[in-house]
Amino acid sequence: MLMFLKKKKIFEKFKKKIPIICITSYTAPIAKIADKYADIILVGDSVGPVLYGFDSTRKVSIDLILQHAKAVVRQAKKSMVIVDMPYGTYERDARLAYKNAKKIISETGADAVKLEGGEKIFDIIAFLIKKKINVMGHIGLLPQKYSGKYPVYGRKKNEEKKILDDLSFLERAGAFSVVVECTVEPIVKKLMKNSNIPIIGIGATSDCDGQVLVAEDLLGLTDFNAKFLKKYSNLDMIISQAFEKFSTDVVKRKFPQKKNYYK
Ligand code: KIV
Repeated sequence: MLMFLKKKKIFEKFKKKIPIICITSYTAPIAKIADKYADIILVGDSVGPVLYGFDSTRKVSIDLILQHAKAVVRQAKKSMVIVDMPYGTYERDARLAYKNAKKIISETGADAVKLEGGEKIFDIIAFLIKKKINVMGHIGLLPQKYSGKYPVYGRKKNEEKKILDDLSFLERAGAFSVVVECTVEPIVKKLMKNSNIPIIGIGATSDCDGQVLVAEDLLGLTDFNAKFLKKYSNLDMIISQAFEKFSTDVVKRKFPQKKNYYK
C-alpha cells in the first residue's frame, strides 16, 4: 500500500478516536504476523537489547537496523513501516541525518523514520521533512540517552514544560506522529489536550491515540519487566517445552519417524 494511503488510514483513525496499533518487528516471521494486526510496524532500535543482548540501544548501527528493516518491509503488505534512526546517525548534523534517513528509506523501502527528541533536533526534523522524509518523533523517556535502567519521565520539576515544548516543536517541524514513552499520567493528559498529531504511547496511559509494545516483550520472550508491560503470552515457556520435547525425542530415537524420511 502506498505511504499516503497508510498515512490517511492512520489519520482517519486518529480523527475518529479509534486506537492506533503499533507493534515492533525486527524479523520476517514476526512482521508477517504483526502486519495482520498493526497499523504501524516499528523496526525499533530495541533490536539491539532484544535480539543481540546489547546493554543499550546506543550500540545499534545503521547497517544492523538496515538488515532488519529489509526483512520486515518484505513481509509488511499493509502496515506502515517506521525505522528507528540509530544513535549517532542524526543528532548533530542535518545533512548527515538526511544522508542516513535517505539510505534507510531507499535501501529498505520503509515508509518513515523515527528520531528521539524534540526541541533539540527541531532543525534536523524540519530539514528531513523539507526533503520529503516522513518523520515520527519520540519524546518523554528517550532510551538512547541511557544504558541499563530507564527512569520514568515527568517526575522532575522542569520535565512537564520540556515535554510540552518538545511536542509543539515536533508539530511545527512537521512530524506526522509521535511516540511518548514512560511518562506520568497527568503530563500525558496535558499532551493529549495540546496535540494535533497522533500520540502513540508506551507506558503512557490508555488516553493516547495508540499504543506500541515491543513484540518479544508482549509475547513473553524476554526477561524485560516494567510496570507498563503486559505479557500476552509466555513464548519463553512454550519454546522451552518444544525444545525439551525435541531433545527427549532425539535421545529416545523417536524423532525422526519414518514419515520424516526421504525414500
Ligand atoms: O526501539 C523501540 O522499540 C522503540 C519503542 C519502544 C517505541 O522505540
